[in-house]
Amino acid sequence: ARRAPILAIESSCDETAVAIIDADGVLLANQISTQIDFHARFGGVVPEIASRKHVEAIVGVVDAALDEASRALGLEGGPLAPTELAAVGVTQGPGLVGALVVGIAFAKGFAYAAGIPLVTVNHLEGHLFANLLDSPDLEPPFIFTLVSGGHTMLVHVCAWGDYEVLGETLDDAVGEAFDKVAKALGLGYPGGPVISRLAKEGDPHAIEFPRAMMHSHDFRFSLSGLKTAVITYIDQQTKAGLVIHLPDLAASFEAAVFDVQYKKAAEALRATGVRSYCLGGGVAANPHLRQMLTEKLERDGIRVHLPPVSACTDNAAMIAMVARRKFAQGDFASFDVDADPNMTL
Ligand code: KG4
Ligand code: ZN
Repeated sequence: ARRAPILAIESSCDETAVAIIDADGVLLANQISTQIDFHARFGGVVPEIASRKHVEAIVGVVDAALDEASRALGLEGGPLAPTELAAVGVTQGPGLVGALVVGIAFAKGFAYAAGIPLVTVNHLEGHLFANLLDSPDLEPPFIFTLVSGGHTMLVHVCAWGDYEVLGETLDDAVGEAFDKVAKALGLGYPGGPVISRLAKEGDPHAIEFPRAMMHSHDFRFSLSGLKTAVITYIDQQTKAGLVIHLPDLAASFEAAVFDVQYKKAAEALRATGVRSYCLGGGVAANPHLRQMLTEKLERDGIRVHLPPVSACTDNAAMIAMVARRKFAQGDFASFDVDADPNMTL
């Protein structure tokens, strides 16, 4: 059944997510069960808790997705059956190994029982394919910036499936820097959404934070110095008995991170001669980053594509988009496939 829908599972970190898309790439179901509340009190994701919560959630999330797809298709005689699907896609890596294993083990059993093929998906490629959700006709070449909790990289997307990584972070990822700064300020986990809300009311020029690697003339990044600078600033203000203006701090931190992102993206576009740009990963949900990159790159004559805000952080819709392409190419996985926690693009 080549035109049947594909079900995709994502469990690489702290979201148990299941999506179903039809053969034309139309989303029929998009379910996410988040574990954030269970991790928040520890200030970050606890791998053992993540695995256990995936085990508890996965059957319910798959059922909810099948129900949602049945409603979308207007099916009367009960929910969509697993045997009516074309394939099961699942995130193979990178991510937390115990979390990935839950999704993969479930996907294998489900595909085997339904007699349908298994397709494995690289989570990082998923973040790129999130761009297709709003613009299904997108075609490479692009320069792609991936900014998530675990990764920060600039990629030359020569064709779908053909990726040249131009540079990565030498230490922390951008999302990780947001999370660590938020933790230092006692703002909880995850840090990105809180900091971007505060930054709206702040002055990005209030505090001069370092822009590491800004002039390094390569495509590598470094975030740990900025994180240290912010923490040092917090300590100094506190010791001097001065109140910290959180919106100004948040806006100044964002400006330091995002100035470097724009500079390197513009350089990568110039160096490759590519005229089209995509963004992805959890930090791509940030309104200031979206607005600033769109304005500046369009002024440079670049076509800018952004994923829908809801598909920037981890979800299964983006995994389904990759699975659909691999399925069409007959690129199936064997049933003895394993999680690959350190997978790269
Ligand atoms: O892509 P993602 O959901 O997970 C990984 O694959 O890592 O990204 C999560 C990261 C977290 O570090 C979170 O703080 C960050 O994305 N994030 C944001 C925003 N929303 C989420 N960072 C900045 N601004 C946001 N609005
Ligand atoms: Zn992710």
